[in-house]
Amino acid sequence: MSLEFMITTIEGFEDVAAQEIKDVGGRSIEVKTARVFFRGEANLMYRVNIRSRCVHRLMLVLGRGQALGLNDIYRFAKSINYFEVMKLDQSFAVRTTRVGEHDYTSIDASAMVGQAIVDSFKEVKGVRPRVDLKNPDVEVDVYVKDSEVVIGVNTTGESLHKRNYRVYDHPAALKTTLAACMLRFSGWKGEGLLDPMCGGGTIVIEAALMARRFPPGFFRKSMAFTKLPLYDPKVHREEVEKALEEANRDHFEIYGFDISPKHIKGALSNASSAGVDDTIQFAVRDCTRKETYSDLSTKFVIVNPPYGIRHGRPKAIKDLYTNFLKAISQNLSGTILTAIVGCPKIFETALESVNLKVLDSRSVKHGNLPARVYKIRVS
Ligand SMILES: C[S@@+](CC[C@H](N)C(=O)[O-])C[C@H]1O[C@@H](n2cnc3c(N)ncnc32)[C@H](O)[C@@H]1O
Repeated sequence: MSLEFMITTIEGFEDVAAQEIKDVGGRSIEVKTARVFFRGEANLMYRVNIRSRCVHRLMLVLGRGQALGLNDIYRFAKSINYFEVMKLDQSFAVRTTRVGEHDYTSIDASAMVGQAIVDSFKEVKGVRPRVDLKNPDVEVDVYVKDSEVVIGVNTTGESLHKRNYRVYDHPAALKTTLAACMLRFSGWKGEGLLDPMCGGGTIVIEAALMARRFPPGFFRKSMAFTKLPLYDPKVHREEVEKALEEANRDHFEIYGFDISPKHIKGALSNASSAGVDDTIQFAVRDCTRKETYSDLSTKFVIVNPPYGIRHGRPKAIKDLYTNFLKAISQNLSGTILTAIVGCPKIFETALESVNLKVLDSRSVKHGNLPARVYKIRVS
């Protein structure tokens, strides 16, 4: 039976996440802001949650409609059949994400949908389902964008960007999913790779897990789908086994450098916790010095330099960007550089001063921060 799903992902990288969905077997893909809809069999629920690197949450869509106000939301929510996704003895909660201007709040919308669910159960089954906002068995998600409303069930639970291998928290760590999207966007396929400002190691760890085809969902302690009536432990086990069979312990040429010994120590702990410390070489090095690259022949550089926003030092950031770009153009000519920056103007000025050409670029959201990702051929 074909089901409809919706994933949430990094705003700006929806096409990259959509490609990942296609790779695991999703069909009828529809790309929207920060979301991707697709169709597939029930086993995709396990596969996406186990294998996906670019996805935050996977929702099993129960209905898509239009609503101009709370009454419309109630009517639409009431028209949905919840009996296949919630058992009578299960508790539930409704969570709403709202984008756009509305004359009601997300809490109002959640309350309306909650009321519609209670009324449906009372009318058809003669019982009132239990609401548990803190620890529900089933989380009904509502997504409202302008007049569009999507109601579904969260099959993931907590966002998949929380991979559970992080034991050292870098103060400006990149989201794992954003790092994975950048790796796909760069065109990297397992060749030599360097992150010269690796902080806690997110990019290089995601790269090593990707090269080894290790399913990131394996690190998760729990998945929300295990509570759903349609959950089949046998299919779940088979999907995990299939994913693990495709994984390898091969050695890849992956380097992570940072000027801070503390961050390099933290990155090593993170890599060891993720089981990839044997294929990443970490070192304390300054990315603005040309000696840093003298023993390297990597084809890809992927980096998340300091944004400088918190430090309020635009001159220092400009010098760092310019000196870094100079050093890699002198030593890693022909490399593809992918960088995410929080201050595009400063970065573009630095690129011009070193005469580097942008192959591709796009705006993305890093949490709530706007950022820009660049793909550059180093010459
Ligand atoms: C935004 S953080 C990177 C965070 C990382 N992507 C993560 O997820 O943990 C930028 C890093 O650049 C490092 N850095 C700053 N100047 C540097 C330099 N000249 N050479 C190497 N690393 C530098 C900082 O120590 C910091 O860890």
